[in-house]
Amino acid sequence: MAIEIEHGHVRAKEQLVPIACKVAAVSEETSDVKAFRIQTLDGKKPFEALPGQTAMLSVIPYGECMFCVSSQGEDYVEFTVKKVGYVTERMHFLSVGDSVGLRGPYGNWFPYEDMKGKDILFIGGGIGLAPLRSLLTYVLDHREDYGRVDLVYSGSTKDDLIFLNDIENVWPTYPNTHMHVSVYKGTEGWDGEVCYTAPFLESLGIEPEGRIAVLCGGPSLFRTCLHSLLEKVGFPPGDIITTLEMKMKCGIGKCGRCNIGSKYICLDGPVFSMAELEDMPWGAH
Ligand SMILES: Cc1cc2nc3c(=O)[nH]c(=O)nc-3n(C[C@H](O)[C@H](O)[C@H](O)COP(=O)(O)OP(=O)(O)OC[C@H]3O[C@@H](n4cnc5c(N)ncnc54)[C@H](O)[C@@H]3O)c2cc1C
Ligand code: FES
Repeated sequence: MAIEIEHGHVRAKEQLVPIACKVAAVSEETSDVKAFRIQTLDGKKPFEALPGQTAMLSVIPYGECMFCVSSQGEDYVEFTVKKVGYVTERMHFLSVGDSVGLRGPYGNWFPYEDMKGKDILFIGGGIGLAPLRSLLTYVLDHREDYGRVDLVYSGSTKDDLIFLNDIENVWPTYPNTHMHVSVYKGTEGWDGEVCYTAPFLESLGIEPEGRIAVLCGGPSLFRTCLHSLLEKVGFPPGDIITTLEMKMKCGIGKCGRCNIGSKYICLDGPVFSMAELEDMPWGAH
């Protein structure tokens, strides 16, 4: 059965003005990834986000970037930020109490209602686990509503693996929840699996029946794992869900930076099924 993705047009309305916020906590995930808990200036949660939704976080006067909400609590939303360029580098200098701007939540969300009763296979690489985390923790918080959970996660070295404490000590304590982690380049400090993600995935003998695959990672992981899921494991395109990244400016479907044909990744996405992606005019982009 193909999964229907809910789209977030109504929620994305004219939310262009950032809310004044502060950094409530900072934690270092790896040498180039930090997680930032963000609160309003009076210590409240800035907004409620559904699993998979995104927001624009800004560091004045350097600029703003789009991130998925990787986790949230009663009085904060959290973003997991990889240092890759101008703004994210400035973000890594932020400490507790520093001012930031925040606008959102934007976009659609993972179809967590339609996934109820199914097994879920999460596949992620490196920072790609950040978007998956919001759905994974939702599923674990509502454990009785879902079937078996598998996470297949890889990084080039141990230092590229984020949320390692959760992977090793927290998530596997939930019933019927299985972690499969590998590295594929540097093996220093690593005594686990050494394998690229796609062959690792194929070696697990996972069956597609009654299961939804949720995939997020860089272009190479995306290409190879998608091939494995479709051609080797036999998932129908409608049962593979992914979350896309493109360069974004407005985040609300106005600037035309992120569209593929008539679909705006900021507004109609970032969550799409493979069946939806197959219908999009990639060649014309
Ligand atoms: C929907 C969405 C969700 C995202 N979620 C996360 C997240 O949870 N955590 C996270 O660390 N990052 C996430 N990103 C990516 C993040 O927005 C970019 O890394 C950031 O905008 C880079 O800004 P910069 O000024 O530091 O880099 P720049 O100086 O602008 O660019 C540095 C390098 O990164 C590339 N780049 C810049 N923006 C993007 C982009 N959006 N996608 C791919 N490559 C880009 C550039 O081509 C360049 O090679 C997300 C992006 C989108 C669109
Ligand atoms: S970011 Fe402006 S239209 Fe999507």
